[in-house]
Amino acid sequence: MAKVEIELGTIPEGKNVIIKWRGKPVFIRHRTQDEVQEARSTNWKALRDPQSDEARTKKPEWLVMVGVCTHLGCVPIGEAGDYGGWFCPCHGSHYDISGRVRKGPAPTNLEVPQHDFDDANGLLVI
Ligand code: FES
Repeated sequence: MAKVEIELGTIPEGKNVIIKWRGKPVFIRHRTQDEVQEARSTNWKALRDPQSDEARTKKPEWLVMVGVCTHLGCVPIGEAGDYGGWFCPCHGSHYDISGRVRKGPAPTNLEVPQHDFDDANGLLVI
C-alpha cells in the first residue's frame, strides 16, 4: 500500500528527515519552540497562499510536507532560503518554517499530505 509509517523518536528537535512516499520525497521537520512561534506569529493572511500554521500541522512540533516545489517540481533544500525554511534552487522559491511560499515563482505552499500520529510516537503518512 501507499502508506508509510515512521518512528518519530529517532528525529531530534531541529532536524529534517526525508522519506519516500508514493515515489515522492516527504519532508518531516521536528521544529523547535522558536520555529513554532515564528511560524505561528506570521501574518499569514497577507501571504500569497494564505494558510495558518495551525491549519498545516496536527502537532505544532511536527511539520510534514511533500518535498516537491509547487513551481515546476524540483526538490527544495532544507534549512535554506531567506525565511528559515526551504529554498528551491531551480528558480529561487523561498518557503518559510511552515512550508509556505514567501518569495519566488512558486504559486502555492508546499503540500501537506494526509497524515496521522499514533500513541507510540509514530507518524503515518496516508
Ligand atoms: Fe522550484 Fe521553479 S521548480 S522554483
